[in-house]
Amino acid sequence: MSVGDEAVDHQHREILSLIAQMTDCAKHPGRREEAFPVLVSLLSCLDEHFAEEERQMNETGYPEADEHRRDHDAMDRTLRTLRASVRSPAELIRSTITILPRWVARHQATLDRNLCRHAALRMGTAPGFRVENRL
Ligand SMILES: [Fe+2]
Ligand SMILES: [Fe+2]
Repeated sequence: MSVGDEAVDHQHREILSLIAQMTDCAKHPGRREEAFPVLVSLLSCLDEHFAEEERQMNETGYPEADEHRRDHDAMDRTLRTLRASVRSPAELIRSTITILPRWVARHQATLDRNLCRHAALRMGTAPGFRVENRL
């Protein structure tokens, strides 16, 4: 799903690709050991992505920034708690694929889409936005 911003869409694709890797780990027991490194990559990718969206919120005076940031922070806390508390790759895989895909789908379809719409209206103050990609 595109939110209409090239940089954000690229990061979303990276996140979805890492989620797909986690799903593959679930399907192939021989790949379960990859789950923790995949989660580390996911956390790093999400960190970078959340920072980019929050930079856009600051630069465009986004009025719904607090709600959006809270949703980022909640998922970040959830995944870090998972990483610290799960006892096996199988448990990590199960928990991650139960929680994350649904959250990503909802978050992108609502909060991210609203942010991109807002930032697009502030063309010129949101570097990276291209006219042809606007919603
Ligand atoms: Fe977001
Ligand atoms: Fe996002």
